[in-house]
Amino acid sequence: MKFIDEVSLNGKTVLIRVDFNVPLDKGVIADDNRIRAALPTLRYILDQGAALVICAHLGKPKGVPVPELSLAPVARHLGELLGMDVPLAPDCVGQEVERLVGALRPGQVLMLENLRFHAEELGKTPEARGDFGKRLASLCNVFVNDAFGVAHRPNASVVDLPAHAPICCAGFLMKKEWEYLQMAIASPERPYVAISGGAKVSSKLAILKNLLGKVDHLIIGGAMANTFLLALGHAVGNSLAERDMLDEARVILDEAKAGGVVVHLPTDVVYAHSVEDERPAGTCPVDSVPEDAVILDVGPQTVKEYCSSLRSARTVVWNGPMGLFEREAFAEGSLSLCRCIAELEDARTIVGGGDTDAVVHLAGLADRFSFISTGGGAFLEFMEGKELPGFKALKEYSK
Ligand code: 3PG
Repeated sequence: MKFIDEVSLNGKTVLIRVDFNVPLDKGVIADDNRIRAALPTLRYILDQGAALVICAHLGKPKGVPVPELSLAPVARHLGELLGMDVPLAPDCVGQEVERLVGALRPGQVLMLENLRFHAEELGKTPEARGDFGKRLASLCNVFVNDAFGVAHRPNASVVDLPAHAPICCAGFLMKKEWEYLQMAIASPERPYVAISGGAKVSSKLAILKNLLGKVDHLIIGGAMANTFLLALGHAVGNSLAERDMLDEARVILDEAKAGGVVVHLPTDVVYAHSVEDERPAGTCPVDSVPEDAVILDVGPQTVKEYCSSLRSARTVVWNGPMGLFEREAFAEGSLSLCRCIAELEDARTIVGGGDTDAVVHLAGLADRFSFISTGGGAFLEFMEGKELPGFKALKEYSK
């Protein structure tokens, strides 16, 4: 891969693909971390004396314009962060866009409208994507991909645009994601502890299997822990669990044992009577979960054990909360674990996935982690050991 600081940008028109797929609440940006994460690359391009054109997607419009998914609020917010005007083009390709891009001066910015308003962006085959990537590429002298969050999608702007751009390279965010995540996969310092939480074993199966060959400890929490507890013969009441994944869970436990990986499962849990409850009904050991219980968090004893297994860690990768952290009464397991990781002095600590990112921000500890990935699906697929189409295209077409 070629990186942005190896390319001359002065006087050029630079098109950058970013992942500004941020959550919107009634048109207002609820979390701007992804926008902030791209700022170093955007500022660098402007400081180098280039004209900057930004392309991105928002939400999942299926190839037709959806007014609520316009990038207008994002352009406005980016303008505030950059302290300059960021006008939004009415589309991302076409004559009007070409005119607006042609009129840009060095140091000026233009944002293109949502790429996914065009069906070709999401085309599953080269035929379905047509010349969309080529048309985007024709807008620039240099293309920069800084959209890690979408690196797992073979979208036209991710895989075709680099092939047609005169010069193509990765931005600083892409570089940082690559370096941290690659390190965790290929050359982690040990002990290496992976923490996996969230709801489903099925959605994390591939990542768990890939991590088993690499980590020293695997800490499991969230509703997916219920599936493992069930597989070990514990009753979990009415808790969320994947009853069709019990065999898979056993295979993971067996493989871990055979590979010398220590798996940590909850020893006590916080439960309610219904998933709607605001308050817990109690805390109990995992061998005495009441029949009508719904497990919504790990218990204090579990947190203590998890924190002690983290104490000597040199690499920690965390994906997935320990419980229903969105509700205050069931957030303590995730927040306490977050505090333990944040206190580690000598470890590289990496967080991935939107929910885990939200826990870290809720705890106010984002600056105490080595790296917070901007990827959701992209982070998971990278950690599964897959080659992401975004990186593949960058390697193939870096020029
Ligand atoms: C994300 O939010 O993970 C990325 O922006 C990719 O979005 P998608 O899942 O809609 O492709």
